[in-house]
Amino acid sequence: MNVLVVGSGGREHALCWAARRSPLCGRLLCAPGNAGIGEVAACVAIDAADVSALVDLARRESVDFVIVGPEVPLVAGLIDRLNDAGILAFGPTARAAEIEGSKSFMKELCERCGVPTAAYARFDEPEQAKAFIRRHGAPVVVKADGLASGKGVILCHNENEAYAAIDHIMIEGAFGDAGAQVVIEDFLIGEEASFFALVHGDRAVPLASAQDHKAAFDGDQGPNTGGMGAYSPAPIITGAVAEEIMAKVIMPIVRGLAEDGRPYSGVLYAGLMFTHDGPKVLEFNARFGDPECQPLILRLKSDLLTALVACAEGRMDDIDLQWHPDPALVVVMATHGYPGHYARGSAIGGLVEASSVPGVTIFHAGTKLDEGKLVADGGRVLGVAARAPSVPRAQELAYSAVDRIAWPEGFCRRDIGWRAIGRM
Ligand code: AMP
Ligand code: GLY
Repeated sequence: MNVLVVGSGGREHALCWAARRSPLCGRLLCAPGNAGIGEVAACVAIDAADVSALVDLARRESVDFVIVGPEVPLVAGLIDRLNDAGILAFGPTARAAEIEGSKSFMKELCERCGVPTAAYARFDEPEQAKAFIRRHGAPVVVKADGLASGKGVILCHNENEAYAAIDHIMIEGAFGDAGAQVVIEDFLIGEEASFFALVHGDRAVPLASAQDHKAAFDGDQGPNTGGMGAYSPAPIITGAVAEEIMAKVIMPIVRGLAEDGRPYSGVLYAGLMFTHDGPKVLEFNARFGDPECQPLILRLKSDLLTALVACAEGRMDDIDLQWHPDPALVVVMATHGYPGHYARGSAIGGLVEASSVPGVTIFHAGTKLDEGKLVADGGRVLGVAARAPSVPRAQELAYSAVDRIAWPEGFCRRDIGWRAIGRM
Protein backbone atom coordinates (compact mmCIF):
# COMPACT_ATOMS: atom_id res chain seq x y z
CA MET A 1 0.00 0.00 0.00
CA ASN A 2 1.09 3.55 -0.59
CA VAL A 3 0.58 5.28 2.74
CA LEU A 4 0.27 8.98 3.56
CA VAL A 5 0.61 10.21 7.15
CA VAL A 6 -0.70 13.73 7.84
CA GLY A 7 1.02 15.85 10.49
CA SER A 8 4.47 16.90 11.69
CA GLY A 9 4.84 16.03 15.37
CA GLY A 10 6.34 13.29 17.49
CA ARG A 11 3.07 11.41 17.09
CA GLU A 12 3.42 11.41 13.31
CA HIS A 13 7.08 10.38 13.52
CA ALA A 14 6.05 7.40 15.68
CA LEU A 15 3.24 6.55 13.21
CA CYS A 16 5.65 6.72 10.25
CA TRP A 17 8.29 4.72 12.14
CA ALA A 18 5.76 1.94 12.77
CA ALA A 19 4.26 2.11 9.26
CA ARG A 20 7.74 1.84 7.69
CA ARG A 21 8.27 -1.50 9.50
CA SER A 22 4.99 -2.93 8.22
CA PRO A 23 4.98 -5.62 5.52
CA LEU A 24 1.90 -3.82 4.12
CA CYS A 25 3.76 -0.55 3.51
CA GLY A 26 4.96 0.36 0.04
CA ARG A 27 5.72 4.03 -0.51
CA LEU A 28 5.43 6.14 2.63
CA LEU A 29 4.64 9.86 2.36
CA CYS A 30 4.20 12.41 5.12
CA ALA A 31 2.75 15.92 4.88
CA PRO A 32 4.39 18.08 6.05
CA GLY A 33 6.62 15.86 8.25
CA ASN A 34 9.89 16.92 9.90
CA ALA A 35 13.60 16.09 9.73
CA GLY A 36 13.27 12.78 11.60
CA ILE A 37 10.26 11.70 9.53
CA GLY A 38 12.33 12.49 6.44
CA GLU A 39 14.57 9.54 7.34
CA VAL A 40 11.70 7.03 6.95
CA ALA A 41 9.21 8.77 4.64
CA ALA A 42 9.14 11.20 1.72
CA CYS A 43 8.06 14.54 3.21
CA VAL A 44 5.81 16.81 1.13
CA ALA A 45 5.53 20.48 2.14
CA ILE A 46 1.76 20.70 2.53
CA ASP A 47 0.24 22.06 5.72
CA ALA A 48 -1.75 19.52 7.76
CA ALA A 49 -4.74 21.91 7.66
CA ASP A 50 -4.79 22.27 3.87
CA VAL A 51 -7.54 19.73 3.17
CA SER A 52 -7.83 20.30 -0.61
CA ALA A 53 -4.07 20.10 -1.20
CA LEU A 54 -3.88 16.88 0.85
CA VAL A 55 -6.69 15.25 -1.15
CA ASP A 56 -4.95 16.29 -4.40
CA LEU A 57 -1.67 14.85 -3.13
CA ALA A 58 -3.31 11.54 -2.20
CA ARG A 59 -4.89 11.32 -5.66
CA ARG A 60 -1.76 12.33 -7.53
CA GLU A 61 0.49 9.90 -5.66
CA SER A 62 -1.98 6.96 -5.85
CA VAL A 63 -2.15 6.77 -2.07
CA ASP A 64 -4.07 3.72 -0.83
CA PHE A 65 -4.32 4.62 2.85
CA VAL A 66 -4.16 7.91 4.77
CA ILE A 67 -3.51 8.18 8.51
CA VAL A 68 -4.48 11.58 9.91
CA GLY A 69 -2.56 12.56 13.05
CA PRO A 70 -3.84 15.97 14.28
CA GLU A 71 -7.36 17.17 15.08
CA VAL A 72 -7.54 20.25 12.85
CA PRO A 73 -7.84 18.41 9.49
CA LEU A 74 -10.25 15.88 11.06
CA VAL A 75 -12.59 18.62 12.27
CA ALA A 76 -12.20 20.35 8.89
CA GLY A 77 -13.48 17.23 7.08
CA LEU A 78 -10.34 15.68 5.56
CA ILE A 79 -11.69 12.15 6.09
CA ASP A 80 -15.01 13.06 4.42
CA ARG A 81 -13.15 14.46 1.42
CA LEU A 82 -10.87 11.41 1.15
CA ASN A 83 -13.89 9.10 1.43
CA ASP A 84 -15.59 11.05 -1.37
CA ALA A 85 -12.47 10.52 -3.47
CA GLY A 86 -12.62 6.77 -2.76
CA ILE A 87 -9.43 6.78 -0.67
CA LEU A 88 -9.33 4.68 2.50
CA ALA A 89 -8.43 6.78 5.53
CA PHE A 90 -7.98 6.33 9.27
CA GLY A 91 -9.84 8.86 11.41
CA PRO A 92 -13.36 10.15 12.08
CA THR A 93 -15.48 12.26 9.75
CA ALA A 94 -16.01 15.93 10.62
CA ARG A 95 -19.33 15.21 12.30
CA ALA A 96 -17.86 12.44 14.44
CA ALA A 97 -14.74 14.53 15.23
CA GLU A 98 -17.03 17.12 16.84
CA ILE A 99 -16.54 15.05 19.96
CA GLU A 100 -13.22 16.90 20.16
CA GLY A 101 -14.11 19.98 18.11
CA SER A 102 -17.00 21.12 20.32
CA LYS A 103 -16.89 20.85 24.10
CA SER A 104 -20.63 21.56 24.36
CA PHE A 105 -21.41 18.75 21.89
CA MET A 106 -19.20 16.41 23.91
CA LYS A 107 -20.94 17.37 27.18
CA GLU A 108 -24.43 16.91 25.71
CA LEU A 109 -23.43 13.55 24.28
CA CYS A 110 -22.08 12.38 27.66
CA GLU A 111 -25.29 13.51 29.33
CA ARG A 112 -27.44 11.74 26.74
CA CYS A 113 -25.38 8.53 26.95
CA GLY A 114 -25.13 8.49 30.75
CA VAL A 115 -21.34 8.83 30.68
CA PRO A 116 -19.88 10.33 33.89
CA THR A 117 -18.36 13.79 33.42
CA ALA A 118 -18.13 17.05 35.42
CA ALA A 119 -21.39 19.01 35.81
CA TYR A 120 -21.43 21.94 33.40
CA ALA A 121 -23.25 24.91 31.93
CA ARG A 122 -22.77 26.52 28.55
CA PHE A 123 -22.97 30.18 27.53
CA ASP A 124 -22.71 32.28 24.39
CA GLU A 125 -22.97 35.58 26.24
CA PRO A 126 -20.25 36.75 28.71
CA GLU A 127 -22.56 38.54 31.20
CA GLN A 128 -24.65 35.39 31.62
CA ALA A 129 -21.49 33.33 32.09
CA LYS A 130 -20.34 35.76 34.81
CA ALA A 131 -23.74 35.73 36.50
CA PHE A 132 -23.48 31.94 36.62
CA ILE A 133 -20.05 32.22 38.29
CA ARG A 134 -21.52 34.62 40.90
CA ARG A 135 -24.23 32.07 41.75
CA HIS A 136 -22.02 28.96 41.47
CA GLY A 137 -18.79 30.19 43.05
CA ALA A 138 -15.27 28.82 42.44
CA PRO A 139 -13.18 26.78 41.74
CA VAL A 140 -14.43 26.14 38.21
CA VAL A 141 -12.94 25.31 34.82
CA VAL A 142 -13.72 27.66 31.92
CA LYS A 143 -13.32 26.15 28.44
CA ALA A 144 -13.54 27.66 24.97
CA ASP A 145 -16.03 25.52 23.07
CA GLY A 146 -13.95 24.98 19.92
CA LEU A 147 -10.41 23.88 19.07
CA ALA A 148 -7.70 25.99 20.68
CA SER A 149 -4.51 23.88 20.39
CA GLY A 150 -5.00 22.63 23.93
CA LYS A 151 -4.86 26.19 25.33
CA GLY A 152 -8.59 26.85 25.61
CA VAL A 153 -9.01 25.31 29.07
CA ILE A 154 -8.52 27.65 32.05
CA LEU A 155 -8.48 26.29 35.60
CA CYS A 156 -9.93 29.03 37.85
CA HIS A 157 -9.26 28.81 41.57
CA ASN A 158 -11.37 31.83 42.51
CA GLU A 159 -14.19 33.93 41.02
CA ASN A 160 -11.88 36.69 39.78
CA GLU A 161 -9.86 34.21 37.76
CA ALA A 162 -13.10 32.91 36.28
CA TYR A 163 -14.24 36.43 35.25
CA ALA A 164 -10.82 37.03 33.69
CA ALA A 165 -11.03 33.71 31.83
CA ILE A 166 -14.43 34.66 30.42
CA ASP A 167 -13.09 38.05 29.29
CA HIS A 168 -10.02 36.43 27.76
CA ILE A 169 -12.01 33.88 25.78
CA MET A 170 -15.24 35.76 24.95
CA ILE A 171 -14.35 39.46 24.90
CA GLU A 172 -10.66 39.56 23.96
CA GLY A 173 -11.30 36.67 21.57
CA ALA A 174 -8.04 34.90 22.47
CA PHE A 175 -9.10 31.80 20.53
CA GLY A 176 -11.15 33.49 17.81
CA ASP A 177 -14.43 31.81 16.91
CA ALA A 178 -13.54 28.83 19.11
CA GLY A 179 -14.38 31.10 22.05
CA ALA A 180 -17.81 32.31 20.88
CA GLN A 181 -19.24 29.85 23.39
CA VAL A 182 -17.82 28.69 26.70
CA VAL A 183 -18.44 25.62 28.80
CA ILE A 184 -18.06 26.11 32.56
CA GLU A 185 -17.42 22.92 34.50
CA ASP A 186 -17.07 21.78 38.08
CA PHE A 187 -13.43 21.46 39.07
CA LEU A 188 -12.64 17.77 39.44
CA ILE A 189 -9.99 16.50 41.82
CA GLY A 190 -8.12 13.25 41.38
CA GLU A 191 -5.55 11.43 39.29
CA GLU A 192 -5.63 11.93 35.52
CA ALA A 193 -5.03 9.22 32.92
CA SER A 194 -6.02 8.56 29.34
CA PHE A 195 -7.44 5.56 27.55
CA PHE A 196 -7.38 4.80 23.83
CA ALA A 197 -9.64 2.54 21.79
CA LEU A 198 -9.93 1.68 18.11
CA VAL A 199 -13.50 2.28 16.97
CA HIS A 200 -15.56 1.63 13.89
CA GLY A 201 -19.33 2.17 13.85
CA ASP A 202 -20.78 0.47 16.92
CA ARG A 203 -17.68 -1.64 17.62
CA ALA A 204 -14.60 -0.82 19.69
CA VAL A 205 -11.37 -2.59 20.63
CA PRO A 206 -9.35 -1.37 23.63
CA LEU A 207 -5.86 -0.16 22.75
CA ALA A 208 -3.91 1.02 25.80
CA SER A 209 -3.70 3.58 28.59
CA ALA A 210 -1.20 6.36 29.24
CA GLN A 211 -0.42 9.26 31.53
CA ASP A 212 0.66 12.65 30.20
CA HIS A 213 2.44 15.54 31.96
CA LYS A 214 0.70 18.71 30.81
CA ALA A 215 2.49 21.36 32.90
CA ALA A 216 5.71 22.85 31.53
CA PHE A 217 7.91 22.41 34.60
CA ASP A 218 8.85 19.83 37.23
CA GLY A 219 6.36 19.18 39.99
CA ASP A 220 3.50 19.97 37.58
CA GLN A 221 4.30 23.68 37.87
CA GLY A 222 3.99 26.35 35.20
CA PRO A 223 1.69 26.80 32.23
CA ASN A 224 -0.12 23.95 30.47
CA THR A 225 1.50 22.61 27.31
CA GLY A 226 0.57 20.03 24.69
CA GLY A 227 2.34 17.48 26.91
CA MET A 228 5.93 17.37 28.21
CA GLY A 229 6.20 13.61 28.60
CA ALA A 230 4.15 10.46 28.99
CA TYR A 231 4.27 6.78 29.73
CA SER A 232 2.14 3.78 28.96
CA PRO A 233 0.44 1.92 30.54
CA ALA A 234 -1.05 4.05 33.34
CA PRO A 235 -0.79 1.99 36.57
CA ILE A 236 -4.16 3.34 37.76
CA ILE A 237 -5.87 1.69 34.77
CA THR A 238 -5.71 -1.97 35.79
CA GLY A 239 -7.37 -4.66 33.67
CA ALA A 240 -10.59 -4.32 35.67
CA VAL A 241 -10.58 -0.52 35.33
CA ALA A 242 -10.02 -0.82 31.57
CA GLU A 243 -13.09 -3.07 31.35
CA GLU A 244 -15.09 -0.55 33.35
CA ILE A 245 -13.99 2.27 31.01
CA MET A 246 -14.90 0.25 27.93
CA ALA A 247 -18.36 -0.53 29.39
CA LYS A 248 -19.19 2.84 30.98
CA VAL A 249 -17.40 5.34 28.76
CA ILE A 250 -16.27 4.07 25.35
CA MET A 251 -19.17 1.80 24.36
CA PRO A 252 -22.00 4.19 25.36
CA ILE A 253 -20.32 7.02 23.41
CA VAL A 254 -19.69 4.84 20.36
CA ARG A 255 -23.32 3.69 20.33
CA GLY A 256 -24.54 7.23 20.96
CA LEU A 257 -22.57 8.61 18.00
CA ALA A 258 -23.77 5.78 15.74
CA GLU A 259 -27.40 6.39 16.77
CA ASP A 260 -26.88 10.08 16.13
CA GLY A 261 -26.04 9.32 12.49
CA ARG A 262 -22.38 10.26 12.98
CA PRO A 263 -20.69 6.87 13.36
CA TYR A 264 -17.12 7.11 14.60
CA SER A 265 -14.10 5.51 12.99
CA GLY A 266 -10.50 5.82 14.16
CA VAL A 267 -8.88 6.11 17.55
CA LEU A 268 -10.99 7.52 20.36
CA TYR A 269 -9.02 9.12 23.20
CA ALA A 270 -10.76 9.48 26.55
CA GLY A 271 -9.09 11.87 29.01
CA LEU A 272 -10.27 10.77 32.45
CA MET A 273 -10.11 12.02 36.02
CA PHE A 274 -10.22 9.27 38.66
CA THR A 275 -12.22 11.04 41.37
CA HIS A 276 -13.35 9.57 44.68
CA ASP A 277 -16.62 8.73 42.99
CA GLY A 278 -15.06 6.94 40.07
CA PRO A 279 -13.66 7.88 36.66
CA LYS A 280 -15.12 10.96 34.95
CA VAL A 281 -14.47 12.14 31.42
CA LEU A 282 -12.48 15.40 31.11
CA GLU A 283 -12.31 15.37 27.32
CA PHE A 284 -12.48 13.22 24.25
CA ASN A 285 -9.95 13.54 21.46
CA ALA A 286 -10.57 12.26 17.95
CA ARG A 287 -6.96 11.10 17.45
CA PHE A 288 -3.89 9.65 19.13
CA GLY A 289 -2.47 11.85 21.90
CA ASP A 290 0.91 13.46 21.42
CA PRO A 291 3.25 12.54 23.14
CA GLU A 292 1.20 9.54 24.41
CA CYS A 293 1.30 7.93 20.96
CA GLN A 294 5.08 7.55 21.18
CA PRO A 295 5.32 5.18 24.19
CA LEU A 296 2.16 3.42 23.04
CA ILE A 297 3.75 2.54 19.70
CA LEU A 298 6.99 1.43 21.39
CA ARG A 299 4.93 -1.08 23.39
CA LEU A 300 3.03 -2.47 20.40
CA LYS A 301 4.40 -5.82 19.17
CA SER A 302 1.83 -6.34 16.40
CA ASP A 303 1.85 -4.50 13.12
CA LEU A 304 0.25 -1.08 13.60
CA LEU A 305 -0.62 -0.53 9.94
CA THR A 306 -2.49 -3.86 9.70
CA ALA A 307 -4.58 -2.85 12.71
CA LEU A 308 -5.31 0.68 11.45
CA VAL A 309 -6.33 -0.58 7.99
CA ALA A 310 -8.62 -3.21 9.58
CA CYS A 311 -10.17 -0.50 11.77
CA ALA A 312 -10.75 1.86 8.83
CA GLU A 313 -12.36 -0.99 6.86
CA GLY A 314 -14.52 -1.99 9.82
CA ARG A 315 -12.93 -5.44 10.13
CA MET A 316 -12.77 -5.19 13.91
CA ASP A 317 -12.60 -8.99 14.40
CA ASP A 318 -9.32 -9.01 12.50
CA ILE A 319 -7.64 -6.69 15.00
CA ASP A 320 -5.31 -8.70 17.19
CA LEU A 321 -3.04 -6.50 19.28
CA GLN A 322 -0.05 -7.96 21.10
CA TRP A 323 1.87 -5.76 23.52
CA HIS A 324 5.32 -5.89 25.02
CA PRO A 325 4.89 -6.47 28.75
CA ASP A 326 7.37 -3.66 29.48
CA PRO A 327 6.26 -0.06 29.95
CA ALA A 328 7.54 2.75 27.75
CA LEU A 329 8.13 6.42 28.57
CA VAL A 330 8.88 9.55 26.58
CA VAL A 331 10.58 12.78 27.70
CA VAL A 332 9.74 15.78 25.52
CA MET A 333 12.50 18.29 24.81
CA ALA A 334 11.15 21.76 24.03
CA THR A 335 12.64 25.11 23.04
CA HIS A 336 13.13 27.57 25.94
CA GLY A 337 10.06 29.79 26.13
CA TYR A 338 7.55 27.11 25.08
CA PRO A 339 4.53 27.13 25.49
CA GLY A 340 4.95 30.90 25.17
CA HIS A 341 7.16 32.67 22.65
CA TYR A 342 10.29 30.83 21.51
CA ALA A 343 12.99 31.20 18.84
CA ARG A 344 13.54 28.84 15.92
CA GLY A 345 16.71 27.68 14.24
CA SER A 346 19.02 26.62 17.12
CA ALA A 347 21.37 23.74 16.25
CA ILE A 348 20.84 20.29 17.80
CA GLY A 349 23.70 17.80 18.18
CA GLY A 350 24.38 14.45 19.79
CA LEU A 351 21.40 12.51 18.44
CA VAL A 352 23.54 9.62 17.20
CA GLU A 353 25.08 9.20 20.65
CA ALA A 354 21.68 9.58 22.32
CA SER A 355 19.98 6.98 20.10
CA SER A 356 22.71 4.47 20.88
CA VAL A 357 21.46 4.14 24.48
CA PRO A 358 19.87 0.65 24.57
CA GLY A 359 16.07 0.68 24.50
CA VAL A 360 15.94 4.33 23.38
CA THR A 361 14.15 5.64 20.27
CA ILE A 362 14.14 9.33 19.42
CA PHE A 363 11.11 10.79 17.70
CA HIS A 364 11.31 14.22 16.12
CA ALA A 365 8.60 16.87 16.52
CA GLY A 366 9.66 20.44 15.61
CA THR A 367 12.87 19.80 13.68
CA LYS A 368 14.11 20.61 10.21
CA LEU A 369 17.31 20.41 8.21
CA ASP A 370 18.99 23.74 7.51
CA GLU A 371 21.79 23.32 4.96
CA GLY A 372 22.13 19.72 6.10
CA LYS A 373 22.25 20.58 9.80
CA LEU A 374 19.52 19.64 12.27
CA VAL A 375 17.82 22.67 13.86
CA ALA A 376 14.87 23.28 16.15
CA ASP A 377 11.76 24.44 14.33
CA GLY A 378 8.99 24.40 16.90
CA GLY A 379 7.99 24.44 20.57
CA ARG A 380 8.11 20.73 21.22
CA VAL A 381 11.19 19.53 19.33
CA LEU A 382 12.13 15.95 20.29
CA GLY A 383 10.57 12.98 22.06
CA VAL A 384 13.22 10.85 23.76
CA ALA A 385 11.49 7.52 24.34
CA ALA A 386 12.55 4.29 26.01
CA ARG A 387 11.05 0.88 26.71
CA ALA A 388 12.39 -1.04 29.69
CA PRO A 389 11.30 -3.62 32.28
CA SER A 390 10.13 -0.88 34.69
CA VAL A 391 9.16 2.80 34.59
CA PRO A 392 12.19 3.82 36.73
CA ARG A 393 14.52 1.98 34.31
CA ALA A 394 12.79 3.52 31.25
CA GLN A 395 13.12 6.93 32.91
CA GLU A 396 16.83 6.37 33.59
CA LEU A 397 17.48 5.33 29.99
CA ALA A 398 15.51 8.25 28.54
CA TYR A 399 17.37 10.81 30.69
CA SER A 400 20.75 9.25 29.92
CA ALA A 401 19.90 9.78 26.23
CA VAL A 402 18.68 13.35 26.94
CA ASP A 403 22.04 14.06 28.60
CA ARG A 404 23.87 13.13 25.40
CA ILE A 405 21.90 15.65 23.35
CA ALA A 406 23.77 18.89 22.75
CA TRP A 407 21.12 21.59 22.57
CA PRO A 408 21.57 24.50 25.02
CA GLU A 409 18.41 26.22 23.74
CA GLY A 410 16.24 23.27 24.83
CA PHE A 411 14.76 22.15 28.13
CA CYS A 412 12.82 19.20 29.49
CA ARG A 413 11.12 18.15 32.69
CA ARG A 414 13.30 15.95 34.90
CA ASP A 415 10.44 14.13 36.63
CA ILE A 416 8.55 12.37 33.83
CA GLY A 417 7.02 9.22 35.32
CA TRP A 418 6.92 10.49 38.93
CA ARG A 419 3.41 9.28 39.56
CA ALA A 420 4.03 5.72 38.36
CA ILE A 421 7.36 5.60 40.22
CA GLY A 422 5.74 6.95 43.39
CA ARG A 423 3.26 4.07 43.38
CA MET A 424 5.98 1.42 43.40
P1 AMP B 1 -9.15 19.26 28.36
O1 AMP B 1 -8.47 19.76 27.11
O2 AMP B 1 -10.60 19.50 28.42
O3 AMP B 1 -8.74 17.87 28.74
O4 AMP B 1 -8.44 20.07 29.52
C1 AMP B 1 -7.03 20.17 29.64
C2 AMP B 1 -6.61 19.82 31.05
O5 AMP B 1 -7.29 20.66 31.99
C3 AMP B 1 -6.99 18.40 31.47
O6 AMP B 1 -6.04 17.48 31.05
C4 AMP B 1 -7.06 18.54 32.97
O7 AMP B 1 -5.77 18.49 33.55
C5 AMP B 1 -7.62 19.92 33.16
N1 AMP B 1 -9.08 19.88 33.30
C6 AMP B 1 -10.01 19.92 32.32
N2 AMP B 1 -11.26 19.85 32.81
C7 AMP B 1 -11.13 19.79 34.16
C8 AMP B 1 -12.06 19.71 35.23
N3 AMP B 1 -13.38 19.71 35.02
N4 AMP B 1 -11.57 19.65 36.49
C9 AMP B 1 -10.23 19.68 36.71
N5 AMP B 1 -9.30 19.75 35.74
C10 AMP B 1 -9.73 19.81 34.46
N1 GLY C 1 -1.07 15.18 25.07
C1 GLY C 1 -2.41 15.57 25.04
C2 GLY C 1 -3.06 15.53 23.73
O1 GLY C 1 -2.54 15.01 22.76
O2 GLY C 1 -4.18 16.02 23.64
